[in-house]
Amino acid sequence: MNHPAMPGQRLNAPAYVKNAKLLNWVAQVAALTEPADIVWCDGSEAEYNRLCAQLVAAGTMKKLNPELRPNSYLALSDPSDVARVEDRTYICSERKEDAGPTNNWMAPAEMRTLLQTGDSALFKGCMRGRTMYVVPFSMGPLGSHIAHIGVELSDSPYVAVNMRIMTRMGKGALDVLGADGEFVPCVHTVGAPLAAGQKDVAWPCNKTKYIVHYPETREIWSYGSGYGGNALLGKKCFALRIASKMGRDQGWLAEHMLILGVTSPEGKKYHVGAAFPSACGKTNFARLVPPKSAYQGWTVTTVGDDIAWIKPGKDGRLHAINPEAGYFGVAPGTNYETNPNCMDSLKRDVIFTNVALTDDGDVWWEGMSKQPPAHLIDWQGKDWTPQIGKDTGAKAAHPNARFTVAATNNPVLDPGWDSPEGYALDAFIFGGRRSTTVPLVTEARDWVEGVYMAATMGSETTAAAAGQQGVVRRDPFAMLPFMGYNMADHFQHWLNMGAKLAASGAQMPKIFCVNWFRKGADGKFVWPGYGDNMRVLEWMLGRIEGKAGGTENAFGVSPRFEDLRWDGLPFTREQFDSVIGVDKAAWAQELVLHQELFTQLAFHLPAELPATKARIEQRLAA
Ligand code: OXD
Ligand code: MN
Repeated sequence: MNHPAMPGQRLNAPAYVKNAKLLNWVAQVAALTEPADIVWCDGSEAEYNRLCAQLVAAGTMKKLNPELRPNSYLALSDPSDVARVEDRTYICSERKEDAGPTNNWMAPAEMRTLLQTGDSALFKGCMRGRTMYVVPFSMGPLGSHIAHIGVELSDSPYVAVNMRIMTRMGKGALDVLGADGEFVPCVHTVGAPLAAGQKDVAWPCNKTKYIVHYPETREIWSYGSGYGGNALLGKKCFALRIASKMGRDQGWLAEHMLILGVTSPEGKKYHVGAAFPSACGKTNFARLVPPKSAYQGWTVTTVGDDIAWIKPGKDGRLHAINPEAGYFGVAPGTNYETNPNCMDSLKRDVIFTNVALTDDGDVWWEGMSKQPPAHLIDWQGKDWTPQIGKDTGAKAAHPNARFTVAATNNPVLDPGWDSPEGYALDAFIFGGRRSTTVPLVTEARDWVEGVYMAATMGSETTAAAAGQQGVVRRDPFAMLPFMGYNMADHFQHWLNMGAKLAASGAQMPKIFCVNWFRKGADGKFVWPGYGDNMRVLEWMLGRIEGKAGGTENAFGVSPRFEDLRWDGLPFTREQFDSVIGVDKAAWAQELVLHQELFTQLAFHLPAELPATKARIEQRLAA
């Protein structure tokens, strides 16, 4: 079909595309980026197989041994394109203060000149020689009142196949969109146009990168990277940055949270939303296997493992859905001991990125088995042996190597994960990665104290983002890299949501803060984590039921040794004290860092937060 906005270029839109705004926008972006061809993705299996075969032919992906890993692929990225680029990520609100001090900001007009309209605008002709894929998707169950539609235009077929796994992608989303529906427009390019006859590389990308959000007009423009959250725009860009702003405007929440269901032997089911920074164990916690010895009859099911959209339901309670349909999880460290459900979900139908290749055509990563194979091809395509690893420190898999797999591969997928109404939440958990100071678990005494815990959370940085690792930074709500507006306004939004809930008389979720990562003097983690986190979860459920005991500390209520169940786990009182204790000197230091955050976020900082801090200080001084 020819379209008036783009004379001479074929839009190739199928007859079922009825949305004039969509057709116009595709035409405009095509006119700007000048792709050689346009393909509309229908989301079918045949299309997925065709694109995967094309990616194999192009050298971007390798088909794994179908006997060992059926229907699965390995992609190796350019070594410079391996993680989210937070320093290249922008929130371009009209006013700088609406992006807030934790985001990179540029005025929208200036950014548009740079990307779209200036003489040497980066998107001009950026798709030359490539195909532009039109990827319609629903974040959330098709047609759910909590869900929203997006359309990504990308010149990366790797993005198209990943989006089919990660979202409800294709014709179904266009059917929901209809003739007049609203969608979030997402434009993505690897930024590597091809001249006539120029040979492509296996992983095209550009040294220059821009991951840009216009929250007021709800648009995403991503340039230069083909990797993960930089390129799969439904995930961090839409479902967190743009959606957080939509949530604030419309009275709901978009959070960096897994959602799990936990059912007691009596058959009572609870639902929990848990926020952790990237690579801090969400993948594991969402698929927790309760220790067999102590937890016969308990089950944990996964609703989501990364993002929650939370809206008040008809009953007034906060209902959560997982807007995604797949998992883009960190592979290294995952094994049958720590996460058998995750390993089982990876048996087939997976796209692996930047893990190592075994000689028999399967995959391996650090931590998958104690003994690495004798020979591998590493994530950069080079020979790797355990000796090379020892001599050079080279990892076989990149520390941020990922798997992309459909939620439906998860053996402990919650039966209601796709329900349009979502689940009413009983608790929120916030957790950072802290070697010291923060106790294993603390319950907030009220909503405001819970918001304080979430707002002041700190965590040691990981390989999920480019940059230095292991440095403690404040990561409010585990949303520092994902906030689409001013962080202090987000604190206020949470306080407002809580006040509204309280006024309606609806059951409020309890709020807890956890830290699985405290280390002993020997530098080793003290708490065993993984399945044993069930012991902490059970205590939380006991608190919700008003049955479990605890003791007040300076900033909430923590369990005593006797308040947790210990059968099957040799863990001493001394060990427990070392993970639960509140050290006054360490906390005095910690509060200095809270103050630094409050100083940074002084504009619009809700008064409740410094007031809560003052109360903690008084308790510490008492
Ligand atoms: C992710 C992240 O990919 O948080 O989920 O980095
Ligand atoms: Mn994440």
